[in-house]
Amino acid sequence: MKKFILKITAAGAIVASLAYCSTAKKITTTAVSLKDAYKNDFLIGTALNTPQIEERDPKAAALIPVQFNAVTPENCMKAENIHPQWDQYTFDLSDKLVAYAAKHNIKVNGHTLIWHSQLPQFARRIKDVDSFKTFFTNHINTVASRYKGKVFSWDVVNEALNEDGTMRKSIFLDKIGDGFVTEAFRLAEKASPGTELYYNDYNNEQPKKREGCIALVKKVQAAGVRIDGVGIQGHWHLGRVPFKDIEESILAYHALGLKVMITELDIEMLPRNFQGADVNQRQASNPALNPYANGIPDSLLQQQAADYANLFKLFLKHKDKITRVTFWGVNDGQSWLNGWPIPGRTNYPLLFDRAFNPKPAYHAVMALKK
Ligand code: XIL
Repeated sequence: MKKFILKITAAGAIVASLAYCSTAKKITTTAVSLKDAYKNDFLIGTALNTPQIEERDPKAAALIPVQFNAVTPENCMKAENIHPQWDQYTFDLSDKLVAYAAKHNIKVNGHTLIWHSQLPQFARRIKDVDSFKTFFTNHINTVASRYKGKVFSWDVVNEALNEDGTMRKSIFLDKIGDGFVTEAFRLAEKASPGTELYYNDYNNEQPKKREGCIALVKKVQAAGVRIDGVGIQGHWHLGRVPFKDIEESILAYHALGLKVMITELDIEMLPRNFQGADVNQRQASNPALNPYANGIPDSLLQQQAADYANLFKLFLKHKDKITRVTFWGVNDGQSWLNGWPIPGRTNYPLLFDRAFNPKPAYHAVMALKK
């Protein structure tokens, strides 16, 4: 009889031990981790929050470099944080992130240069078109050039599309017109040549939004401007992962000559009344919508493991097209889905539980590589 023992060592590595009970002989195999298991397939990333960037959480600090070889800042590079006033930039935390990643040989995906959400107040208040264009240009030039050669890639534009594939009515569309996406890529390329440049969105695996995304990419390409990839955020729901749409989208984006990434993966376990990941959309709090505050049934964790396994099977099938799969957070307790779209819930969307222990979903994803 043999059984697997999995434990997190002090160094954060998940060590698989094969214990042969019959012979009482214990063989400790080499440390295994997500990034090692998938090293020949695609990068495995995570979003990082402030305490994680500052290595203030010892368990996270031990686990992150072992499990992940790509990071995306969860908030610190967004305009409201990095560019709070017209002539003021706060680079401290982003500089720390870049240094942290360099120390651990981790690739950084900058997130994000142009996005209608988490914009600084001063930018929202700009009325004059020329001033807004100056803000747009200065922002991209200043931020992208600071991290030239230091970040591997940028989400140049985030969430420019509506669900029906038309352009979202944002301040960027209003002030600059629908050429703002192409212009953003043009400026980013100039400020940071050699950095990979991506368009990122949620629900862009859905057929209508996908069509809009394809049209947007073609427009950038037709202008002779470089775009290297498309990010599908991947905020999906338990039992409702749209596998067919995801596969069709991977194929469609790849056919445009682009790299495909899953950039913000999580599988939400709690109910809500809409799909998507518009951070401005909220839902009223109600105890019935927080059913697992004291723990989640194992049957649901098993179902989540099956969803994750099927997703990674699909990603492996298309590993020639997919360059990175990034989770939106390290462990369940740190996920944004505990606070959005309803504050104060207890969600379980990631591969590690609140104590940083690997969940059934972790084992299921790792099992595909055994
Ligand atoms: C989220 C962060 O996780 C939260 O901490 C923040 O309050 C709001 O934004 N799509 C994106 C991400 O592109 O930047 C969002 O991140 C989640 C949805």
